[in-house]
Amino acid sequence: MFNVLKPQPADKILQLMGQYRADQRTDKIDLGVGVYKDATGLTPIMRAVRAAEERLCQSEKTKTYTALAGEPAFAAALGKMILADTVGADRISAAATPGGTGAIRQAFELIRLASPNATVWVSDPTWPNHISVLAYLGIPMRSYRYFDAETRGVDFAGMIADLNGVKAGDVLLLHGCCHNPTGANLTLPEWAEVAALIEKTGAVPLIDLAYQGFGDGLDADAAGTRLIASRLPEVLIAASCSKNFGIYRERTGLLMALSEPSRRDVTQSTLAWLNRQNYSFPPDHGARIVTTILDDEKLSTDWRAELEEIRNNMLALRSQLALELQTLAGSDRFGFIAQHRGMFSRLGATPEQVERLRAEHGIYMVGDSRLNIAGLNKTTVPILARAILAVGI
Ligand code: LMR
Repeated sequence: MFNVLKPQPADKILQLMGQYRADQRTDKIDLGVGVYKDATGLTPIMRAVRAAEERLCQSEKTKTYTALAGEPAFAAALGKMILADTVGADRISAAATPGGTGAIRQAFELIRLASPNATVWVSDPTWPNHISVLAYLGIPMRSYRYFDAETRGVDFAGMIADLNGVKAGDVLLLHGCCHNPTGANLTLPEWAEVAALIEKTGAVPLIDLAYQGFGDGLDADAAGTRLIASRLPEVLIAASCSKNFGIYRERTGLLMALSEPSRRDVTQSTLAWLNRQNYSFPPDHGARIVTTILDDEKLSTDWRAELEEIRNNMLALRSQLALELQTLAGSDRFGFIAQHRGMFSRLGATPEQVERLRAEHGIYMVGDSRLNIAGLNKTTVPILARAILAVGI
């Protein structure tokens, strides 16, 4: 049967990782995949994560199966970090998943089950894997305008105009914060307008929350999600701990489904059932690390402090790059880099310019000109700024 297999299209982000590794140049700069790196290029294990692991190593007595939906303590701790007290526990169903991508995948599976004719609306642009997984599952999708190529901000008027086509039972995929790949985000009043529009249409929002704490802080980054959660009867939230806890390879994610209290039990059991169909029990080690940190005041304080350091490092790099470009270009046209939030900014360069950055300057970014700010350091910022202007961006 394998003779019918055809090569699948390569994932552009992962392909770029391979290309970068194979590049022999010693001064190459990786601004591709969304992984946080410190000034030395290392993706560090956070202090609280290491401490939690040491504690687990001493205290864990068994590696037997956990629950199908993962440990309830994990869902409770992470759910609280995301929603604070905006939603009663009687509305929340949750299942641990293998990373944020696992949560997205399970959300799509739930949508297919509950609303087989749903169209999933995605921002233009969105994380390419959203589109890939939707296409793989055969779920109809449409895109709504999001990024204004001129201002490099959100085209909010275009977004609202397009979303007027959303129908009851459709799903609106939103990025909770730190939009990937653009770095351009909704303001809180804009979130309120989106909530009102969803209310009117009877659609269900699915919020991809993969970068909480990387933009304006843990609470500010969840503000849009909390607003939606408090106003709408049904909401899906796919959360990732890869970035904010730096536990990428532990595959730690959570799918939450908010429903009417009367639908809570059946929703919860459906999430557990969906886990069973796809992979049975979710990974547990990362979830346990997260729970240990969030449930311990000392560890949690230290984790929050380190997360703030990471966030502030990225903000400082944004300011430095915007300033450097302002000085070199003699104009404010790159000011958007300081306004964007999260790991990414979309420069608005052509694929040819992105390719020249790679070929002539050893600078790797995704073909749509998404750059990972965290891949920079104080020394490489001026190098990137000069290269950006040299290729005519
Ligand atoms: C990214 O967008 O670079 C990250 O979310 C990593 C990935 O899996 O694509």
